[in-house]
Amino acid sequence: MNTEDLIAEARTAAANAYAPYSGFRVGAVAVAADGSRFVGANVENAAYGSTICAEGSAIAAAATAGVRKLDSVAVACLDTEEAFYPCGNCRQLMTEFGVERVVVDGPDGPMEHTLAEILPHAFIVGRD
Ligand code: THU
Repeated sequence: MNTEDLIAEARTAAANAYAPYSGFRVGAVAVAADGSRFVGANVENAAYGSTICAEGSAIAAAATAGVRKLDSVAVACLDTEEAFYPCGNCRQLMTEFGVERVVVDGPDGPMEHTLAEILPHAFIVGRD
């Protein structure tokens, strides 16, 4: 799937975000090595720290389906004009599942990065 379609799918998922506190509806798509896709949206909580990010939600869906290697994650937010980059925690989650490409929704269209570009010197131990 091309980057425009991935971002469109992330935006569709974002429409189901539960974001009554921040007002930032975020959606993500995790793409497995075999091309299968898993969507997620952010799910907030009155105890703010219990919030689940959209990328974490998508990665958890992929992991629950048995996926252990992800090719890409795309992320989009319906409530900002600015590029919406994954938070540090989500970058670390992506590291765990071997994400190579991160697609970000930006004002001039999708932007592609390697995970290594946006999380250099990632912490990783104990994995094959
Ligand atoms: N959020 C995400 O879903 N992904 C990120 O990478 C950063 C932040 C969500 C969490 C919270 O619901 C809202 O955006 C504002 O921080």
